[in-house]
Amino acid sequence: MIKADVIIIGSGVAALQLAVYLNEDKNVRLLTKSKLRRSNSYLAQGGIAAAIGVNDHPSKHLTDTLEAGRFHNQLEAAKQIIFEAPSLIQDISGKGNVFDKDSKGELSLGMEGAHREHRIVHSGGDATGKNLSEYLIEKLPPNLKVEEDSFAYELVLNSEGTRCIGVKVKRQDESQEIYYGNHIILASGGCGQLYKYSSNAKTVTGDGIALAYLAGAEIIDMEFIQFHPTLLFVNGDTKGLISEAVRGEGAILVDENGTLIMEGVHPFKDLAPRHIVSQTIHEYVKKGSQVYLDITSIKNFKDRFPQITELCEKHEVDLTKGKIPIVPGSHFLMGGIKTDLIGRTSIPGLYAIGEAACTGLHGANRLASNSLLEGLYQGKKLAEWLNTVQQDPIEIEVPNHKKGCQWSRKLPDIQEIQDLMMERVGIVRSEMSLKKQKKWLEQFKLEEISSLDHYSISELTKIFMLITANLITEAALKRTESRGGHYRIDFPAEDNERWLRKSIIQQQKREM
Ligand code: SIN
Repeated sequence: MIKADVIIIGSGVAALQLAVYLNEDKNVRLLTKSKLRRSNSYLAQGGIAAAIGVNDHPSKHLTDTLEAGRFHNQLEAAKQIIFEAPSLIQDISGKGNVFDKDSKGELSLGMEGAHREHRIVHSGGDATGKNLSEYLIEKLPPNLKVEEDSFAYELVLNSEGTRCIGVKVKRQDESQEIYYGNHIILASGGCGQLYKYSSNAKTVTGDGIALAYLAGAEIIDMEFIQFHPTLLFVNGDTKGLISEAVRGEGAILVDENGTLIMEGVHPFKDLAPRHIVSQTIHEYVKKGSQVYLDITSIKNFKDRFPQITELCEKHEVDLTKGKIPIVPGSHFLMGGIKTDLIGRTSIPGLYAIGEAACTGLHGANRLASNSLLEGLYQGKKLAEWLNTVQQDPIEIEVPNHKKGCQWSRKLPDIQEIQDLMMERVGIVRSEMSLKKQKKWLEQFKLEEISSLDHYSISELTKIFMLITANLITEAALKRTESRGGHYRIDFPAEDNERWLRKSIIQQQKREM
């Protein structure tokens, strides 16, 4: 049994920022199921959105965020985060040479979809997530102990079920440990790997959301999944992200005949909001077309996008031909564990930050490069709050094994989960496809799960994927309209009368 003041689960930018800002008199553990540098944040290419250009203003950034989010956003959350963005950038650029500069020595500001201004701060061209993570890792304080290959599989509540006091962890050799803490923070990312085509790290399988749900926390807006329009597509599979910044620099989407596919679809054409671009590409793919990013107008492609160049070369895509084959794939979960701005969930002692959390900033579809921003904001604000809050002692109670029948059911292959989610709960959904998926999920009798202790890490991964898939499917069935990342072919329009700013909240009844 291990005891700490703060236990952080995950190692993306939100987790690292929190660790950096916590007071050094705290005993902090950071647990990651894989390696410190394996996270979605580390893969992020585009950058961080902040209204710092001479013609820009946070109110313009806010407007773009609300429009992309189809007005489903929590206005106050969006305002707070966006107005703080310039100072969060200043915090970092004032301390180190992290971000790219232009020839005048000013921060170089890129353009991405659905932004009306150049406001994307980036690093190393297209290596923003990696460089930002390394900057934070270098600043990690000595009071933090990082534990890799430590898989959090169950939250521990006090005997009244009123407060989170710890987390159960399995190691690679399947040994188990309980970590008790005053504050347990889920910073474990979203659920991109639930889908066949995804930009996400292999480790991003919805664990944190399933953990919080099983503990009885409120989960919100799970139907809103963002599909990024441009993942490199080679030999029938996706190989990684081709940043939207590429279209920001002038690339255009064409089919094999050179047809400009975004012409006449949206006034922003290739830089329309992501759900519109992804749905358009999806239509072409369904008809058997291959869609490409035509990059011939970008003269300094290799210098501006060194990581993407390397990725394409690795997969033998000849950039001198000026065309990169792409398909859309899952990229970001707008919903998640319901939190306030600093990450407090509906269970005292349990917090969520980063993509695992839903503050309401993103609404029904996230504006590009607002997610590293949200991670930086929440990590810092939660640390400031934890640094001042009175730390109530926790009573350590070794948890009883929960009652209930032993749950033993054959689990599907991960690939089957991914294929079916892509086909039935993907870019285009319908009552028929969602009901089919619901029925398929029902065979696993997820509601009968009681103790998780006897499962292997690989079984737990699948169980968490199925629980998260079920949350998405149920929420998508309930929302009988289309909005942002949720597109229903049987309800193709936004229904502002019934659904504007209405959220679907899911919560499992707790066994006391
Ligand atoms: C991209 O570089 O296209 C991804 C940026 C983001 O999703 O915010």
